Amino acid sequence: MSENIDSILQENRQFPPSAEFAENARIGSPEQLEALYRQAEEDYEGFWMQLARDEMDWHTPFTTGLDSSNAPHYAWFTDGRINVSYNCIDRHLATKGNQTAIIFEGEPGDIETLTYRQLHDRVCQFANGLKKQGIKKGDRVVIYMPMTPEAVIAMQACARIGAIHSVVFGGFSAASLKDRIEDAGARMVITADGGNRGGKIVELKAATDEALGKGCASIEHVVVLKRTDHNVGIVEGRDIWWDDLVAGQASECEPEWVESEHPLFLLYTSGSTGKPKGIQHSTAGYLLNSIMTMKWVFDINDKDIFWCTADVGWITGHSYVAYGPLATGSTLLMYEGAPNVPDFGRFWKICQDHKVTIFYTAPTAIRALMKQGDDFPNAYDLSSLRLLGTVGEPINPEAWMWYHKTIGKERCPIVDTWWQTETGSHAIAPIPGATATKPGSCTRPLPGIAADVVDKDGNPITEPNQGGFLVIKKPWPSMLRTVWGDDKRYQDTYWGEFDNRYYVAGDSARKDADGYFWIMGRIDDVLNVSGHRLGTMEVESALVAHERVAEAAVVGRPDEVKGEAIFAYVVLRGPRPAGGVDEALTKELRNWVAKEIGPIAKPDDIRYADNLPKTRSGKIMRRLLRTIAKGEKITSDTSTLENEAILDQLQGKA
Ligand code: PRX
Repeated sequence: MSENIDSILQENRQFPPSAEFAENARIGSPEQLEALYRQAEEDYEGFWMQLARDEMDWHTPFTTGLDSSNAPHYAWFTDGRINVSYNCIDRHLATKGNQTAIIFEGEPGDIETLTYRQLHDRVCQFANGLKKQGIKKGDRVVIYMPMTPEAVIAMQACARIGAIHSVVFGGFSAASLKDRIEDAGARMVITADGGNRGGKIVELKAATDEALGKGCASIEHVVVLKRTDHNVGIVEGRDIWWDDLVAGQASECEPEWVESEHPLFLLYTSGSTGKPKGIQHSTAGYLLNSIMTMKWVFDINDKDIFWCTADVGWITGHSYVAYGPLATGSTLLMYEGAPNVPDFGRFWKICQDHKVTIFYTAPTAIRALMKQGDDFPNAYDLSSLRLLGTVGEPINPEAWMWYHKTIGKERCPIVDTWWQTETGSHAIAPIPGATATKPGSCTRPLPGIAADVVDKDGNPITEPNQGGFLVIKKPWPSMLRTVWGDDKRYQDTYWGEFDNRYYVAGDSARKDADGYFWIMGRIDDVLNVSGHRLGTMEVESALVAHERVAEAAVVGRPDEVKGEAIFAYVVLRGPRPAGGVDEALTKELRNWVAKEIGPIAKPDDIRYADNLPKTRSGKIMRRLLRTIAKGEKITSDTSTLENEAILDQLQGKA
């Protein structure tokens, strides 16, 4: 891991918030922020208990804070009862019933707005429809939908009745959908006749049919939203149109008051084995941190139009589309489609047209948009923006500066937020009215989040700029609770490294002399492609499932736009293509992986070799493969290789 841990990035510029921003911010000075840190430090449990009382509406108030009796399984506020949908919608109705909750823009340009009252009615009708189909507390429901308000309605409706949703990103293939349905043992899939993306229709229903055709015995019904109006097959008795499900349903639905620890959702994410893991989140703890980070990090207020560009298929689309913005009674914007339809000005046009004030996206999107030049953003009025955010991967200082100047006009603070599917919400991030930011750093842990960098023995690294393991030393409310159906994996992956003492994030990081965190990358076999997590083993398993592939090894290489690109080394059954080139096969394998996992997992490069480089004990020398993928000179000892001649093949020289 040392190659990940040597730190090379040096960035010394600092950007304090403007006096104007600080003056209007919820937390407007370093002193105010320090006071929060102090409170959390002096009485950690009490700090979170107080916030949980103040920030959420309870049906049955809790009396207990953190329960560590079953560590490393931690529970918060266990004797309370609460409902997330009630907290996101109902509690705002008296004061904000007519306020816009969701502004939606479809890729074709259609616009729809929903007030809190309308959202309430639609969530209740849908929840009643689910109940009529027999869905009840604890049942798993898979949501495989385009980015339309109905995706949020479906999630909220599940939360309302205590059903556990598992949203599957619409870009995942039928095979990935099937794996997730089966692992979760879901009773229902909610999907659409398609979604609009990149000028094309995403065939969500066809993929659902394919997945169900190959297994998924637990599924009883498929609910189908009409979004594109193109023809899809309907299976009598199994499939129900969304409109039929809600027809005649009452617009009131008493929330199911669940225990704080009741699972709100599962979300599958990649790890270092071939099988994605179902990260299980709680109800109350999860919601609390979504709310706090909306307030602390996004400084959300009633006048804001908040736009997080993430799809609901990712954790960002859970915490900062479906839940956090609504729980804080805000107005959120949803956009269905791609950033380049009809051209690369679309995001900036949406910011202008809907007067977006807070814009949150991934560095990969920023880099892709930056590449198109300044004319696109300069053609639109971006003066409504007041705060910008990034998430998902380290942002390079060049992209940061472009975001700061060209989009933020040097006015808007940038919050670089570090967190994970597992953390539930931001863990390390600036407080925009109080923290001076540095391009490329996610700055400091939030109050009540005990993040640190430790060495391989688990000792805190006090020397500035020394890389180590990123850990969180105390359980926090929105942390994952387990891996669905595989609790051992939960314990081993997140707590095993340091004897159950710390949560281990799987990232390496360093702290500079000011205590600012700089994320250096993953230390496991997980890639970060365009801000999306992918296990190298997942891609390898997909490749070897092809009849012509005997063995495969996948590594990441740096990519200007995607952050990391996927580089696959493949050993075929039968002879290696002459000169290592077979364009038809390469295309076939790339499409194969897209079909097995989804287009985001398509290898960018495929190189054929007679063998993979292995140590004497048979371990693939991944570090060597990474060096080659980067096009760097090989300096490590390769004398143990059985067949050194393959080095030329791996390097594309033979
Ligand atoms: O490596 C870190 C990177 O993304 C990983 C988490 O991926 P995922 O669970 O898919 O969640 C992404 C959205 C929260 C982390 O382990 N990562 C996330 N945010 C940042 C980051 N790396 C650097 N800087 C960030 N701000």
